[in-house]
Parts: sequence; structure tokens; C-alpha cells
Amino acid sequence: MKNWIIKEEWFNNQEITANENRFLCGNGYLGIRGALEEFQKEKLPAVNLSGIYDRVGDGWREPLNAPNPLYTRMKVDGEYYFLPEKEPVSHTQELDFKHGLVRRHTTFHTKRGSVTVESEHFASMADCHLIGMRYIVMADFHADLEIQTGIDGDVWDIHGPHYDDVRFEQKDKRILVDAITHEKKEHVCVAEQYRTQAPHEHKTKEEERRSLHRICVVTDINKPVVIEKMAAVYTTNDCENPQSASEELVAESMELGYEKQRKRHIDCWEKLWSTSKVEIEGDEEAEKELNYSLYHLLSIAPYHAESQSIPARGLSGQTYKGAVFWDTEMFMLDFFINTQPKVARTLLKYRIDTLAGAEQKAKSYGYSGAFYAWESQEGGYDACSDYNVTDVFTNRPMRTYFKDKQIHISGAVVYGLIHYVNSTGDTSILYEGGAKTILSCAMFYDSRMIERVHSGVYELCDVIGPDEYHERVNNNSYTNRLAGFVLTEAVRILSQSREDEKLAEALGEADCEYWEKRFKEDTEKLVQKKPGTNGVIEQFDGYFQLEDTTVDTVRSRLLNEKEYWGGAYGVASDTQIIKQADVVTQLVMFPEDFSRKVAWDNWNYYEPRTEHGSSLSACMYGILACNCENPDAAYPFFRKSAAADLKGGGKEWAGNVYIGGTHPAAAGGAYMTAIKGFAGITMEDGQIKAHPHLPDGWEKMRFSIFYQGERYEICVTANGTEIKSMGHYKISGHCGDF
Ligand code: BGC
Repeated sequence: MKNWIIKEEWFNNQEITANENRFLCGNGYLGIRGALEEFQKEKLPAVNLSGIYDRVGDGWREPLNAPNPLYTRMKVDGEYYFLPEKEPVSHTQELDFKHGLVRRHTTFHTKRGSVTVESEHFASMADCHLIGMRYIVMADFHADLEIQTGIDGDVWDIHGPHYDDVRFEQKDKRILVDAITHEKKEHVCVAEQYRTQAPHEHKTKEEERRSLHRICVVTDINKPVVIEKMAAVYTTNDCENPQSASEELVAESMELGYEKQRKRHIDCWEKLWSTSKVEIEGDEEAEKELNYSLYHLLSIAPYHAESQSIPARGLSGQTYKGAVFWDTEMFMLDFFINTQPKVARTLLKYRIDTLAGAEQKAKSYGYSGAFYAWESQEGGYDACSDYNVTDVFTNRPMRTYFKDKQIHISGAVVYGLIHYVNSTGDTSILYEGGAKTILSCAMFYDSRMIERVHSGVYELCDVIGPDEYHERVNNNSYTNRLAGFVLTEAVRILSQSREDEKLAEALGEADCEYWEKRFKEDTEKLVQKKPGTNGVIEQFDGYFQLEDTTVDTVRSRLLNEKEYWGGAYGVASDTQIIKQADVVTQLVMFPEDFSRKVAWDNWNYYEPRTEHGSSLSACMYGILACNCENPDAAYPFFRKSAAADLKGGGKEWAGNVYIGGTHPAAAGGAYMTAIKGFAGITMEDGQIKAHPHLPDGWEKMRFSIFYQGERYEICVTANGTEIKSMGHYKISGHCGDF
């Protein structure tokens, strides 16, 4: 791929938050919103941390934003020059997404001449606690320049403030901050240090929750003043003494210097791309959008952990409470299984390690087994509120049942586990809790089913499928099919455990014989929906009786554009208009169930009835269209998924609450559409096969896939496919090591 740069050529006040998502950089431990250095909290900058949360009062529990060590502003001849207060002469912001480097270049006119600021920063891929920044100022006159740089502890929070106390310490060219959280008194410690060759006077400046160096220089004409800065972030989640850990790391990294740290970081990115990039000949735009999406996935993967997952909005902030949804297993996992299997394992270990939380949740509703959190935080705590939406007319919270009724979440966990084991051949995860997880999810569905008197069939009633606009429905086809899958897999594992002692041990105390028999019966009796005479599968009982109308008609009934479409009285609730792919997702996951004709009939029925109100929707329509040999119908859905973060346009605000951020599930969905859809990659009888359906103009696709202990390089053209083994690998190591 030739062009790995995305660029914004002018400063636009309206685009500030969208650009912060577009120019995000991260390393799985932290995500840095692409804010300009001078931005304070009302502009939503953030160094968003993974896996550490806080709750204040009745507010939503959300992940922490660390004190911001990139905060920098400048004064020229005693006057501040920064955006948006001062109009620039020129401004560009860019991201080199091959190497995770974010840059800006801004020129201001001052009374005596022009001054240019250039900066670059990165979240180190080589050391996840490390951030590097270079800030350069150049004037075409002898400017009286003061660069103020340090740590801004007055961070942006949605439901904060999360720090009860923020303590600063200045040690010459180093600033340290220890911020203490409200709920659990965790310490979030950040250290920063700068270096410059320019002769300067060093002063300090203390403000409310902010500590700064003042670097005072009289500039030479057209001679840059270069400031190099390293910062380190540690919390009590990482080690016992985050204060000294952050200080030590900063001191060490300053010794190596910015250039060398930058090189280490770039080398890691190169390694990641060597197994991750997807080349598309014949469609440069699509190639760029797709790889930009993959950049986002690679920026938020938890390389540093053994057991951690990815929130639905990645590391772009506190939206969606930094919680983990089914998005990970159903939309992102494919990419990691194929390109970074160690990360895939880490994501699944998170579910295994939160099994106790899922069992607790099931119990709280009176069920057995594991009912996973709809919005999972640490320990499997379900952060989903009973009232997820506010009624725009009364301003009252509306009861939603996402947490209580989206029981398909447990099925997604099992689907992910089985997919991982089948693709990688790494069965060890089953012994390390995977088998127990599958068994427990099956027990949950078993306890959740009901049998009406004399009906002879089992049903899953009062559920919500992927389409959230129809709450509390019976026998959602997707959910029942997935539950059937879980039960079948549980039966397989139970029967295997008769021959495999280690597996029997991993299943613990369970009475395997009893459960095997019971799950078999469940599988046979659980209602599975069949296509009707028109070939269409009814999404849930009674769906076809709902008003059959169009998305536009439903939209025209809104009295307020922010009105919620679902819930008890939503405009879509009594109609066949759905929020996102539902039956279509089922057909993508289980292509073997029905003929291509049935799949295509369903695509054609449901697509015009889908609002695509979730960024998870388009890719499923894309993949299914490919499976039905219709790549040109798939193409716009693919582009929509791939461009979700590049072009933006998604909802950013719900009332006064910021709901924007990045969309990693759409990014993963774009990858799936390219690989499963257009390249038509399947795993059959222990082998990778390709059944390509390349869209118009695509000449060649080239990518790499890990499968069953080997790495393969695959080249797909309309005339044939080459699948070349590159040898064995072992799932171990870190960041780009497999
Ligand atoms: C979608 C869910 C999704 C969640 C997080 C919602 O709008 O309906 O399916 O899991 O967003 O991405």
C-alpha cells in the first residue's frame, strides 16, 4: 500500500471531537485521543486507560482518563497562541497509520512575524506505559517564546470527576502526578520529563490541577526550538508502586532519547503489519480504508495482558462505559485469530476469567450457569444500566432490557471460543477454563428454556435479539440457533471428556453423563425457525404480524430527531423495521444451515427493513451478499463499515451525553467482509480454502492468515488463489510475536 497517511488540511471547530477519534493512537494499554496539545477538558482530549474503572455516586461506572502529559501551549511576546482562540494562517493534522505517529503543523501570524508549531506524538508499541512527544517551534524573527508543557490533571470525564485528589511534584525537568480515584482509591501515576538543546530559562507554573514547566527562549531567526518529551503511566492495577515505576521509566527512556524510542515503536508496528495488512490491487481507496480500520484494531489490542478484552468504543474514551460487548467475539475476534492469535487468546481468557461474574449474574435472575454481562467491566461486572436511554420528551430515564434479555451474549462467548480452537488448534484454552465456560453457558440456556404444557417443544421467551428495537420477544431466531450451537458444543465436549482425562478434570464436579443427556434433549426440542413459503425466516414469534412499512415512514413519525426508536413505545417497536442485522447475522454465522437461495431471500427481505442504526449492521449484509455471490451488492456495505471511523458521521451526542468514539466492531466487520466475503476464505477439513467473489475492479487481494499452527500467505485473484505456507508458529510472545 502506498499511502498510509490521513490528513486534515485546515482547522475546523466543528470537527474537533471527530478528529480526536480519527487521529487516535494507542497501544492496547492506553489510547490517546487525537487532540491538539493545547486542548483542555471541554475539547475532550483523553489518555484513556484500559481495564481500570471508577464510579462516582449514582453516575455510570466508567474507565479512567489519566492526567494528560501531552498538555502544551505557547506564548509569543507575552501573548498566548493556540487553537481555536487564535486564527491560524495554516493548519494540518495527520496520522501516519503505518507507524502510529500523530502530527500537527500550525502557523500563526503575530505582531512581529510568523511562528510555526510542529509536533509529533505516539503511544509506544514497544512499551505500553510510554508516550513520546516532540514539540518544535520556529519563528521568522527573534521571538520572546515561552513553551508551557507539563501535566494536565483536570481531565475530561463523562460521569466524574473520578479523582478525589491530584498531587503534583516538580523535580527540575520532571513532573510527577499521583491521582487518586474516588471509589477504590486506586493511584494513577504519570511522570513526564523534557529535554531541549536550546539555551533556555526553566521556570514553573502551578494551576488548579495542572503543573507546567515554563521553557523561556529568545529564538534565533528560522531556527527551531525542539522539545523532546517522554511520559510514563502506571496505576495500582499494574504494580504496587506506580509512582516510582512511572518515574523510573521516564528517566530510563530519556536516556535512550526520543529518536531511539520512536524507532523501537516503529519497529513494533512494522512487525504487527507484517501479518496484518490486507493488500487490494485495483481499489486504492478501499485498501486504505480497510487498513486504517485495522490500524484501529491493532492500536487497542491488549498485548500487555494475558486476560483482557476490548471495549465497544476501543480506547477512545468513556463512551459505553469502556465496557466489553458481544462486539469483541462476533466482530473483532476473526481479525485477531487470523493475524495475532496471541491477542485472540487474551480476549477469550478475559471471558473465562469473568465466568464467576457471569454465573453470579445468572443466579441473580434465578437461572443456572453463566449469563455474561451485556456491558462487561472488570470481574464480569455488568455495567449496563436498567435505564439506558432518556425519553427526550419528559427527560425521564426509560427502562430498557438490554442487560436482562440479550441472552445471546453467552452464545457469542462460546462461538468465539470454538472458533478460536478450530482455527488455531490451540486446545489448551479448553483445559484452562474454556471447557467449563462452554458447559456453564449451556447450563444457562438449559435453565432459561421453558416448555409450555403439552407443547413438546422448548422455547426461549422474553428475550432481545441483536435488533434492540424489539424488546422482550419470544424465540428470536438468532438467539435460539446460537443456544442450539452452545448445547451441541457442550455435548461434544462432554462426550470427549469420557476419553480425555484432562478435559474431565477441567470440567470439575459436573455430572457429565447427566448433562450430556439433558443437553441432547434440549437441542432436539428447542424451537428452531425454518424459512416460510417465501423463503424468509421470521425474526421472532409474531414479527410478520407487525406493521410492514419502510424505514423512511418510521423516521417520518419521529417528533424529535433524538427520540429513541425502540423500547415500549418507540416508533419502530410495533413495525417490522429493525435496528441492525439479526436473522442476517444468523445466516452469516451458520451458512451451512440453508441454501444460498434462502440466504438471498432473507437478505432481500430484511435489508430494506433495516435502519442500520448500529455500526455492527452493515458488515453482516456485506458478508451475506458475498456468500450469495453478489459482491457488488456487498461492496457499499463493506465501504460503510471500513469508513466508519475515517469518515465519521455516526451519532456523537445523545442529549448532552457524548456517545462518539471509534467503532472497532465496524473495523472488524470490514475485515470479515474482505476476508470471509470477497476472498471467500473458509476452513474446510483442516484446510484453508478460498471461494473468491471479488467486486468489480478488484484485481488481487494479498494477506496472511494463521491457521492450525501455520502461517499462510494468501493471494486471491479472479482467476485463482495461491495459498503458501510460511511455516509453523507458536502462540506465545508479545506485540507482534505470535
Ligand atoms: C448495538 C449493540 C452493540 C452496542 C455496542 C448498540 O448500539 O445495538 O449490538 O453491542 O451498540 O457497540
